[in-house]
Amino acid sequence: MIPEAGIDWDACIGLMLQAMQSLQQGLLHLLAALGAARDIDGQPAWPFALRLSGEVMLIDRSVARALLGALGYSAAALLLVALSFAWKRARIPLLLAGGALLLFTPWPDTALLTAPAVPTSFHTSPTGFSATAIVHGEQLYTRQCIACHGTDGRGNTPLALSLPVAPPNLSSGLLWRRSDGDIFWSLQYGKGGKAGMPAFATRISVADSWALIDYMKANAAGVGITDTGAWPRPVALPDIALACRSPGATHLSQWHGQRIRLVVAQPGKAPPPEDPRLQSVLLNGAAAPDTVGAIDCANSQRDALHAIAIITGTPEEKLPGTQLLADRDGWLRARNASGDWSPDDMLCRSTAVGEGAGNTAGGMDQLIAAMDADPVRFAKGGFFTHRER
Ligand code: HEC
Repeated sequence: MIPEAGIDWDACIGLMLQAMQSLQQGLLHLLAALGAARDIDGQPAWPFALRLSGEVMLIDRSVARALLGALGYSAAALLLVALSFAWKRARIPLLLAGGALLLFTPWPDTALLTAPAVPTSFHTSPTGFSATAIVHGEQLYTRQCIACHGTDGRGNTPLALSLPVAPPNLSSGLLWRRSDGDIFWSLQYGKGGKAGMPAFATRISVADSWALIDYMKANAAGVGITDTGAWPRPVALPDIALACRSPGATHLSQWHGQRIRLVVAQPGKAPPPEDPRLQSVLLNGAAAPDTVGAIDCANSQRDALHAIAIITGTPEEKLPGTQLLADRDGWLRARNASGDWSPDDMLCRSTAVGEGAGNTAGGMDQLIAAMDADPVRFAKGGFFTHRER
């Protein structure tokens, strides 16, 4: 964040994007309340062919500045009109000035502020990014999608190369640029006509489509970490069931707002002790419950371990001993194999991989400080999103 002439543009743009997103979500809910929006799979459908989009503004600040400027002009115009009511003698000149300002406000090109929309553009996933959904999605992907999109999502398969339209790289930023609802629509109804992505509505249920989206995100994270050593884009900690010795949470998602550490059990080795700075969970695969050791909560479902294997691009058998750390917003941030944490373990950061590296001092406190100082500001579908679920 570099303040220019005292103005923190990132903060202004962030606020404006949030306002735009709230505005259109509010409109959708209003239309739904008035009965003017159809219901698709239990969620209100967006009735317009376009939606506001912050995508260009996130890349090109001049567009954001132009929009802020135009909003400033309009606010000034409205102020002049309001003044004209209070100040009778100057009413005509004030109204004329206000009208002229409104008329000549230099709005940025609408094509830069909008994106094509589909009825499910604003739909949100019901899966909660659960390990079960990710693993189920993997099975569906292997059966229905792998022939064209490939194991790594890059679409370099023989079938893909023979297609008139090349499938996009699903392990690039694509899934993050689109809203989940837009991807959902492409899966159900296809994209790009006969030569493009086939429609799966008759073959894949609504729930299966959402599971596929979870898997594609998890797999893109795993491919990213294999290629670059870090998660190129933020990925959430998957939700898993918990079995705790003292009664409490039954699912990870109930620990909303807390830092969470996953520890993959290592046969013959006691897990690390509980840490008051975090909530810890032991993934003990099929191990007996008495290996839980000092950690209060555990999960022994295969899905949990397998989902972590996908997200970290690491085979399950190489995971024992691995620890993963998620921040208070539910984003996976760091990985460590020895339990000696340092800021170098951060795998999801705003600086490029390698930058700021070499900081191995300070342990967990330093890592937490580094994580808190660099919160995930994550744009999805052209808007900031704070949490995956
Ligand atoms: C016959 C080959 C083929 C199969 C099978 C296939 N796809 Fe595609 N897919 C494509 C092509 C081609 C495109 C590019 C379409 C375009 O942009 O015009 C595409 C695009 C996509 C996109 C990007 C959509 C967007 O909004 O830009 C996603 C996501 C996707 N496919 C996921 C899947 C999933 C999940 C499956 C399995 C259920 C699947 N595909 C099966 C060929 C295929």
